[in-house]
Amino acid sequence: MKELRIAIVGHRFMGRAHSNAWNQVSRFFDPALKPVLRVACGRERNDLQAFADRWGWEEIETDWRKVLERDDIDAIDIATPTFLHAEMAIAAAEAGKHIFCEKPFCNTLAEAEAMLAAVEKAGVVHYLNHNYRRCPAVLLAKKLIAEGEIGEVYHWRGAYQQSWLVNPQHPLDWKLQKRTAAAGPLWDLGSHAVDLAHFLVGDFAEIDCRGKQFIANRPLASDPSKTGEVEVECAALMTGEFKNGALATIETTRYATGRRNRHTFEIYGSKGAITWDMEDMNRLQFYSGNDPEDRQGFRDILVTERSHEYVGAWWPPGHIIGYEHAFVHAAIDFLNAAGSGTQVEPNFRDGVKSIRVLEAAARSMETGQRVKVE
Ligand SMILES: NC(=O)c1ccc[n+]([C@@H]2O[C@H](COP(=O)([O-])OP(=O)(O)OC[C@H]3O[C@@H](n4cnc5c(N)ncnc54)[C@H](O)[C@@H]3O)[C@@H](O)[C@H]2O)c1
Repeated sequence: MKELRIAIVGHRFMGRAHSNAWNQVSRFFDPALKPVLRVACGRERNDLQAFADRWGWEEIETDWRKVLERDDIDAIDIATPTFLHAEMAIAAAEAGKHIFCEKPFCNTLAEAEAMLAAVEKAGVVHYLNHNYRRCPAVLLAKKLIAEGEIGEVYHWRGAYQQSWLVNPQHPLDWKLQKRTAAAGPLWDLGSHAVDLAHFLVGDFAEIDCRGKQFIANRPLASDPSKTGEVEVECAALMTGEFKNGALATIETTRYATGRRNRHTFEIYGSKGAITWDMEDMNRLQFYSGNDPEDRQGFRDILVTERSHEYVGAWWPPGHIIGYEHAFVHAAIDFLNAAGSGTQVEPNFRDGVKSIRVLEAAARSMETGQRVKVE
């Protein structure tokens, strides 16, 4: 069987989630290419070796540029902080490697456009990991909308709420600095929320955004007796309008006390409505205006039938799947695209679109004005 020889850069949260996906994918699916976990790359040699041993990476390397020079690597998996994505992806494209890249896509629209130009010139497969698109319940929502069950969409209400910054002792990490993260939850969580809005409803026409800072200084990780400035917003609330006329609200925060990873959307249309909550990700709530009036109400669909996307490869109906499965679904589609010379979605084109919306929101947050999404 033909192989896809992969190098991963980054070996913490996403490094583990991606390694799990590359390991699991051939056990449950039949990809066109067999993934080979060839090189794990990161900065801390000791941690990196332990990571490689645990997840089955054949070798380690601390300089990602050396990995790109190797002929025995076909694809680069970018699982590093956001500010490194552009430099790594452009270099990977120039070296002719397929790219599996984490979100947010990058820090600026100029970087986003350069990344897209590089992959298009190189003709490589490019994937941007908005993993929530590959949850079976989200794909059922997409199908219901495509089949006209919701009718004309009036409202998109998205929220991505976390709580890890409620603790004032949480140290100042890369996600709280402008150079490394571009912005706060607007970028990190908002990129997922905007991508799902694009996927399910359509393109944005204009955006308003209000940001807020709750805790301005935090202990340094290197020396907790000292503090440093939080350079990004703590919460960002967007309202906007889609080109198709639907209205949007999107709430992103790391200060939603008690909410660990509550990623939700609600869609209200002329014929029906849909709601989804990542913390109960196997279920979709669907209201149909076509039901007889005396039994109308939201139905609670357990999306675990063989007829649901990807589910048939896993367990019998009712045996739920979890967070990591959407990464395996991305892996199968990426391997099949690389094997057949096609593209996979979302990709760098979607990345440019999402950064355009986030930059408009950031401008609105700064100026207090509504901004058109060009
Ligand atoms: N898809 C999702 O749901 C999801 C969830 C969390 C994070 N992310 C994204 O994944 C990316 C990584 O986030 P994370 O939470 O895994 O970060 P992390 O801080 O846990 O890990 C970052 C990794 O990058 C490595 N790294 C940093 N600089 C490097 C360099 N110059 N060369 C080589 N390696 C380097 C570090 O050694 C570390 O292994 C970010 O873009 C983040 O937004 C996505």
